[in-house]
Amino acid sequence: MLEPSPQAFVPFVSVENMMRLVHQIGVETALKELADYIEADFRRWELFDKTPRLASHSRDGVIELMPTSDGEVYGFKYVNGHPKNTREGLQTVTALGLLAEVATGYPVLFTEMTLLTALRTAATSAMVARHLAPKGTRTMALIGNGAQAEFQAMAMRAICGIEAVRLYDIDPAATRKAHRNLAPLGLEVTSCRTAEEAIEGAGIITTCTADKQYATILTDNMIGAGVHINAIGGDCPGKTEIHPDILCRADVFVEYPPQTRIEGDIQQMPADFPVVEMWEVITGKAKGRVSDRQLTLFDGVGFAIEDFSALRYVRDRLVGTDCAELLDMIADPDDPRDLFGMLQRARAA
Ligand SMILES: NC(=O)c1ccc[n+]([C@@H]2O[C@H](COP(=O)([O-])OP(=O)(O)OC[C@H]3O[C@@H](n4cnc5c(N)ncnc54)[C@H](O)[C@@H]3O)[C@@H](O)[C@H]2O)c1
Repeated sequence: MLEPSPQAFVPFVSVENMMRLVHQIGVETALKELADYIEADFRRWELFDKTPRLASHSRDGVIELMPTSDGEVYGFKYVNGHPKNTREGLQTVTALGLLAEVATGYPVLFTEMTLLTALRTAATSAMVARHLAPKGTRTMALIGNGAQAEFQAMAMRAICGIEAVRLYDIDPAATRKAHRNLAPLGLEVTSCRTAEEAIEGAGIITTCTADKQYATILTDNMIGAGVHINAIGGDCPGKTEIHPDILCRADVFVEYPPQTRIEGDIQQMPADFPVVEMWEVITGKAKGRVSDRQLTLFDGVGFAIEDFSALRYVRDRLVGTDCAELLDMIADPDDPRDLFGMLQRARAA
């Protein structure tokens, strides 16, 4: 057997190792640190390569590639979105990702990203809410109690000081699951029978439902003044959650307008519908919340830079741990132009 050279190996984080890493750090600490990495990359937004993600649509779902680079490191995520999957015992969203050195093009990290996507989505939502939610908000509503739900609640607690969560899902089994998971973690949890009941007294309303249609999770008459809506389930053409009347009344904040206008709740609005880019709020170029009575809405669809930040975070946090294994992933002949010879010698060996 020929032994692979050191250049052949790429650090790989399996699902099992991702869970070990997150528990070694602590879930809430990981969410806080991740939010800080994401915010740091939003601060240097202008230097990134940016493109709307490459989406391959089918009847039941979408498969997407999400690339970006800061000039030194390149990253991409492979992710799917199939709302009907849970009825077949499969997840709606699964993902994996890779970081590579721009200088050589060689990969430096390959990792599971199903868990990491849930963590980064929640960290992004809470980082945005830290800028936009009414000050002193202690109660949030969580509409859609699937895979993302508890991550959202934990991030809002760790980063925004949320103490109480009001749950609603059209499937009571999902609400029971989220209640069971969240109650032991020190949050005050209330299970509700309607979306209207769930949003009572909530300063942050998160919608994270999955349905491949123009759904209306929130209508205008339900929403008062002085609320922050964190709408993350409308993230694909023909898949929305928020009634257009709310969008007209709210100040709408987005990640990357060319992608959000295709995929976000604002796909229901004209192409020149006014939006504020979150990186501009973070760098002080644009205003975020300006009054207690303002209605703010984050039309979050998930952008490649957030995954890049998450990959960067994992790469840094792996140092000194045994949470990565080395995968023989890059064919590395002794003479870089003798790839065929390497193949032939393997037959002889
Ligand atoms: N913006 C982002 O960055 C981002 C990242 C990851 C996932 N997502 C999206 O977030 C959503 C949730 O993801 P998930 O992995 O938790 O999905 P999931 O399928 O595990 O859970 C979705 C839940 O929504 C519930 N639901 C559907 N319609 C509803 C309605 N009308 N009212 C209340 N509840 C309803 C379902 O019963 C289910 O429990 C998906 O649409 C996914 O595509 C967005």
